Amino acid sequence: MLDFDRYDRVRPIRWLGDRLSLLDQRKLPFTVEYLDCADSDAVAQAIRDLVVRGAPAIGIAAAWGAVLAGQGVEAADGGTALARLAPALDRLNAARPTAVNLMWALARVRRALAGAGADWRLVLEREARTIEAEDLAANRRMGALGAGLIAPGAGVLTHCNTGSLATAGFGTALGVIRAGVASGRIARVFAGETRPWLQGARLTVWELQQDGIPATLIADAAASHLMRSGQVQWVVVGADRICANGDTANKIGTYQLAIAARHHGLKFMVVAPSSTVDMATTRGEDIEIELRDPDELLGYGGQRTVAAGVTAWNPVFDVTPAGLIDAIVTEKGVIERPDPARMRAVFGD
Ligand code: MRU
Repeated sequence: MLDFDRYDRVRPIRWLGDRLSLLDQRKLPFTVEYLDCADSDAVAQAIRDLVVRGAPAIGIAAAWGAVLAGQGVEAADGGTALARLAPALDRLNAARPTAVNLMWALARVRRALAGAGADWRLVLEREARTIEAEDLAANRRMGALGAGLIAPGAGVLTHCNTGSLATAGFGTALGVIRAGVASGRIARVFAGETRPWLQGARLTVWELQQDGIPATLIADAAASHLMRSGQVQWVVVGADRICANGDTANKIGTYQLAIAARHHGLKFMVVAPSSTVDMATTRGEDIEIELRDPDELLGYGGQRTVAAGVTAWNPVFDVTPAGLIDAIVTEKGVIERPDPARMRAVFGD
């Protein structure tokens, strides 16, 4: 049995009763500082600015944002509260477009409110707490399922940050890595730096260091060379949205890792809770890909690194076609070689 606490010490989201405290991921790894949000618009802003990021974490933060919005509203029942909260919920919903966990969490909050009576504030808070608790439980389950697919002694490469920082705790792909290292199946961990925001370099290797898990950072551009060297057997990544056919949106650069993995005969695993699965979106082409400010690419830390006048294109997610994915691991089970029928068998229509 994995000692979860020993391998999972970081928490990005803290509910303090009257405000939401978020570990400011813009400042990691050198400054560990929590930013307090006193209202739902501050939470929406924090999601937009990547104070809190990672698909499950932004859904959880938005659910707590809805609780904060409720603190400023008078209503006799849940239905009335829902009507009054609608503009604030819409602003939370629009904070980022690609990760479906955000819309999923707010849909859950709306459903809970719609059925609530005079105790709607309690119902709302209970829903946010449940969303958070279920995410942690799902991650621990996926850790065991995903690690079970990996033969002992393997090396793995991951991308972006999918750890405790991106979830309620333990992480998705990083949860599989935690479980795989703890059980001795994973012998080597490599993390891509994840240009341009450096989730891998600033967050993943820091998070693993907190938990005493050795990891080696590589430049994104070194991935194919690493695969060719024989040091990795699996690429293990998270997801922001998984479509009905298994096509998967994740951090920009994931798609090229999947292509390179197939070329080198490596296995490619996507790890995500069912809150990331969007059966209403048929295929990857239908996913809105977030475009962020080109300045994220044209400089670093407020310092311009590219000649004045140069322009840039900054899509921050891409879509990996289902055909390049060997396994999707969710808390509901593992879908090997995903296709529409196998997805439907687990998630319904
Ligand atoms: O832009 P980010 O940092 O929010 O992107 C995060 C990712 O792409 C993660 O891989 C994904 O959300 C899964 S996190 C468990």
